[in-house]
Amino acid sequence: MKNLCRSVLLMTIMSFASATAIAQEQPTPEERAYKFRTSLFQTFAWKLGQMAGAKGQDDSAAFAKHAADLAQLSSLIEEGFQIENSLPEGSKAKAEIWQDFEKFQSKAQALTDLATDFTEQGAMANFDPRKFGSKGCGGCHRDFKIKD
Ligand code: HEC
Repeated sequence: MKNLCRSVLLMTIMSFASATAIAQEQPTPEERAYKFRTSLFQTFAWKLGQMAGAKGQDDSAAFAKHAADLAQLSSLIEEGFQIENSLPEGSKAKAEIWQDFEKFQSKAQALTDLATDFTEQGAMANFDPRKFGSKGCGGCHRDFKIKD
């Protein structure tokens, strides 16, 4: 009986301990937003690479598809910045985003517009990944992202 009591007690303690561990591992809403947007931005870099690769292979259908994906993905930028001043540890976002959200939105829209332009037939010929990056990505980073 004594042993049974002891093991019940032990199990209770263990389940409390793991419940606490789970509670500590839950990301805060700010951390989740940060994770969402950094994953999103990484898909942008991927798509830009896919566009460059498609141009290298002279595959205009694939190029237009990746450009359309990027345009679509860029419409999700705002969703990652819904929580005001969500700047958890590691974030490179600037607080200026929420001080001038309209300007931030216009930079996001500029990327959507630019990517949409490249879905047009024949647009692939004018694509230069560096120029695209400077205009569509750097235009926002210069104002709203802390330099690496
Ligand atoms: C409207 C603004 C905006 C646009 C447009 C934008 N970015 Fe960003 N980007 C940011 C901000 C802000 C951060 C920092 C987010 C953070 O750390 O909380 C960021 C971070 C990143 C990161 C780092 C992600 C990580 O893992 O930490 C990459 C990569 C990136 N952007 C790539 C791109 C590329 C490629 C484009 C263009 C195709 C682009 N971004 C367009 C605002 C923008």
